[in-house]
This record gives sequence, C-alpha cells and structure tokens, in this order.
Amino acid sequence: GVKIASLLKETGLVTLDPGFMNTASTESAITYIDGDEGILRYRGYPIDQLAKNSSFLETAYLLIYGELPDEETLDAVTRRIKRHTILHEDFKEFFTAFPRNGHPMAVLQAGISALATYYQHTLDPKDPHQLETATVLLMAKVPTMIAYIAKRATGLPLLYPDASKSYVEDFLRMTFALPYQEDVDPALVKALDMLLILHADHEQNCSTSTVRMVGSSHANIYASIAAGVGALSGPLHGGANEAVLDMLGKIQAEGGGVDDFMRRVKDKEDGVRLMGFGHRVYKHYDPRAAIVKEAAHEVLGKLGKSDELLEIAMGLEEIALNDDYFVERKLYPNVDFYTGLIYKAMGFPTQMFTPLFALGRLPGWIAQYREMITDPATKIGRPRQVYIGETERQYTDISER
Ligand code: ACO
Repeated sequence: GVKIASLLKETGLVTLDPGFMNTASTESAITYIDGDEGILRYRGYPIDQLAKNSSFLETAYLLIYGELPDEETLDAVTRRIKRHTILHEDFKEFFTAFPRNGHPMAVLQAGISALATYYQHTLDPKDPHQLETATVLLMAKVPTMIAYIAKRATGLPLLYPDASKSYVEDFLRMTFALPYQEDVDPALVKALDMLLILHADHEQNCSTSTVRMVGSSHANIYASIAAGVGALSGPLHGGANEAVLDMLGKIQAEGGGVDDFMRRVKDKEDGVRLMGFGHRVYKHYDPRAAIVKEAAHEVLGKLGKSDELLEIAMGLEEIALNDDYFVERKLYPNVDFYTGLIYKAMGFPTQMFTPLFALGRLPGWIAQYREMITDPATKIGRPRQVYIGETERQYTDISER
C-alpha cells in the first residue's frame, strides 16, 4: 500500500474510487470481516461467541484496549464509568432548546459535541491521560443522554442514573421507568446488551471512517464522534433500522401483501429498496443478522407479542433469498433487518432505533479514534479529486452576462 502511494505521488497520478469500494484508508487491528464467508471478529473473537457469552461493557473494553479484561479490571472500569454517568445539570436546559419532536439523532449529535464545552480538560487527543478520561466520560454520559432525549420527547420526568444497576439495565430504567416504578424486565436487559455487542464495531464503515477523518485533523474525540453520529443517521447506514420499520408498517397498512412491494423493489420503482438488505462488505448472510433473527423470535415470544410485522419481514426475506434479483446481487438481510422489531417490542419509538445503534457503536468509534490518533502512520485525511469542471475562463461584468 505504501509503495503504491509513493508511486502515485511520484507520477502525479491519483486513483478514483467512488465510495471507496476498493481503497483501504488505514491498517487496523480492531475488527476483522470476511464478507464472502460472513465472518466478523472483534480483536480475533468471533461475534457469535461474544454475543452469547460477553457483556456490552466487557466487549467495549475488548475493542478499546485489545484484550478481554479479568474480573478485577472489568469491575474497576465499570465502577469508573458508573461514577460519571450523571450529566451536568445544565444539560437538562440544553435538551429543552430543541422541539420535542426533533429527531433524537440530531439532538444526540449536538449533545455529544457539546460535551467538549463541559470537559475542556479532556480535549487534547495527544495526551493519553486526557484521552483516557474522555473515553470514560463518553461511555458514561452517552446512555444518560439518549435516555433523557427519549424521556423529553414524551414529556416524562428525567431520572438520575443509579450506580447500583448494570449499565444496560440503568439505561433502560432511565429511558422507560417512572420515579415510582423502576423494575426492568431482565430478559429485555439481556437482549439489549446482546444487540449493543452486535453493533459495537464494524471496521471502516461510513460513520467510523467519518470519526477517523474528522479526528485526523486532531479534532477532539467529542467533535469526531458527533460527526460519526451524523453519518450514522443516514437511511443507507444506521438509519436503516428505522427505515425498515417504516417500510414494514407501510406494507402492513397497504394490506400486508409483500409481492407487489417486491415487484416495485425489483423494478426500482421510485428508487424503492428493500431496507435492511444488502451490505457493502457482506456478500453472504450477515452473521449479526442471523443472531438478531433468532433473538427477535425469542424476545417477542417472551413478551407474548405476536407481531404481524415480524411475519411480513420473514415473508420478505423468504422471497428475497429465492429470487434471482437478490441472489445475483448477493443481497442478504443485514444486522438491521430484524433489530427494529425487537426495539419496537421493547417499547422504543421508531425514532429511537438509530440512537440505540449509536450507543452500541460508541466503543467502536472510541477504539478506532484511539487507534488512529496513536498510529504514527496517520496523516490528515485529505482525498484528491479528478476535476471535471470548466477550464480557465475570463470574468465578465454582470451587465454583459
Ligand atoms: N434493495 C434492492 N436493491 C438493492 C439493495 C436493496 N436493499 N441494495 C442494493 N441493491 C442493488 C442496487 O440497486 C444495485 O443494483 P444494480 O447492480 O442493478 O445497479 C446492486 O444491488 C448493488 O448495490 P449498490 O447500491 O451499488 O451497493 P452498495 O455497496 O453501494 O450499497 C447498501 C450497500 C448501501 C447497504 C445498499 O445495499 C442499500 O442501500 N441497502 C439498503 C439500506 C440498508 O439496509 N442499509 C444498512 C447497511 S448496514 C448498516 O449500516 C448497519
């Protein structure tokens, strides 16, 4: 890679690779994907082993520090994070500045970038101590922030974090509970913990590349991760989980027939796509989607919710897996085809789905930012272009145009 780069520099040639289909932007030791085989590993550990046995905080530690923690270390890190979960009181005012029905991703992006104004002693990414503190603050405060955004949208009272509860349980409690009713179903805690693990990293995807790109200018980690939240909000990326539910809801409202919808997808009518299908890297069943599909049945079953939308989703998948259009293009369900159904069963409004993805991806963004900022090979991200505009021409006075 370095040789090609210096050759291109010497010759003045540039590569043109729209969407970076075949351009590696970095070396990385965090996440491995084999898209043809449907393999995903964090720091070498297969995703299904982590989903089954790990916890979100343990996986976050693994991604950020490179190894699974021993009990004592995990305990110490958890306690350190829990000490910082309370948001500055002024933040409550901050949230009131936005309309209640504003999209939570927009508020979250603003909130994360605003952390830089409260924690000015943690902004220098070249100071390992500051970077470490910022890592803990982000892991601690983002769940509280997301819970507050959800609560404010409904007008319900905000609850303070409770350090005696687990990370995920406390997030669910702050999001849903009222002051007098605090029990959270342990089955939901377990399911959400697992979904957060599945979303925790996915190498150089759009939002992670954004985090690295912004950080390559030595912008602080809050600014960089806030930019990642913006990238994640798009319907072709993290916003897909919300778009899937909207799509399923529309199909249901139109009578539940999947055939006509699939015809429109295949005819590319009005650019309609089967949301939650397809992936830039996976040309095989997304290993995360298989785990989520199983969880969807389990969670909906446990909650006693038979969901017609799940039936519609399975119908769409069945058609797609046997249809030439999808088979030829190697389009399979991605992680977000079934997540929305679980989030919905848990009681999250559709607009909160992508913030949940952001919470899951947070340790991945942090790990990637830290790897980027400490890698001596990192240079400021600055792609070249192939100019196709006008050649030189002369300015004319406005009266002559
Ligand atoms: N439905 C219908 N057709 C599709 C879909 C889809 N979901 N995805 C791709 N295609 C078709 C394209 O129309 C194209 O067809 P063509 O060869 O006839 O032109 C072909 O498959 C290749 O698609 P591209 O858009 O070139 O593939 P790319 O790698 O650029 O896009 C992406 C990947 C953005 C994920 C795409 O598959 C998509 O839009 N999917 C739906 C949105 C989605 O679920 N996003 C979530 C991604 S995963 C994540 O962020 C967690």
